Amino acid sequence: MSSFSDFNQQSDVRTDGEHQIQLDMLSALCRAVRKSPPSAEVGEILERLVAYCEAHFMSEELLMRLNSYDSYEEHVGEHIGLMDDLERITSAHNSGNSGLLAEQADSVFKLIGQHIGTHDKRFSDFMAAGMQGK
Ligand SMILES: [Fe+2]
Repeated sequence: MSSFSDFNQQSDVRTDGEHQIQLDMLSALCRAVRKSPPSAEVGEILERLVAYCEAHFMSEELLMRLNSYDSYEEHVGEHIGLMDDLERITSAHNSGNSGLLAEQADSVFKLIGQHIGTHDKRFSDFMAAGMQGK
């Protein structure tokens, strides 16, 4: 096995772990926005979630480029849309507009879950197919 293939395999395992962390953070967000009065931790969770997603998406995009992934542009477009959604929730929270937070948190949880199950799964399959060929 080549060292680049080792790198890809390790990256794939690490990416799965990162997806689980994203989902755990999103589910913590969904719980926190439902507390009454709204929990002070909402802002902290959102801040950590945005930073984590930014770093995770960036590393995933780098891995796609390193492997000349054929759906790179489309996948990156999804990441941009998801970051926009998180930004919308953050500004709603920061402006004290908490009425729709629970709905928005549920929606982004669902969208990121779908992204992992479709786009990320496709990339993971692409990587696995590439590794079999090595
Ligand atoms: Fe992704």
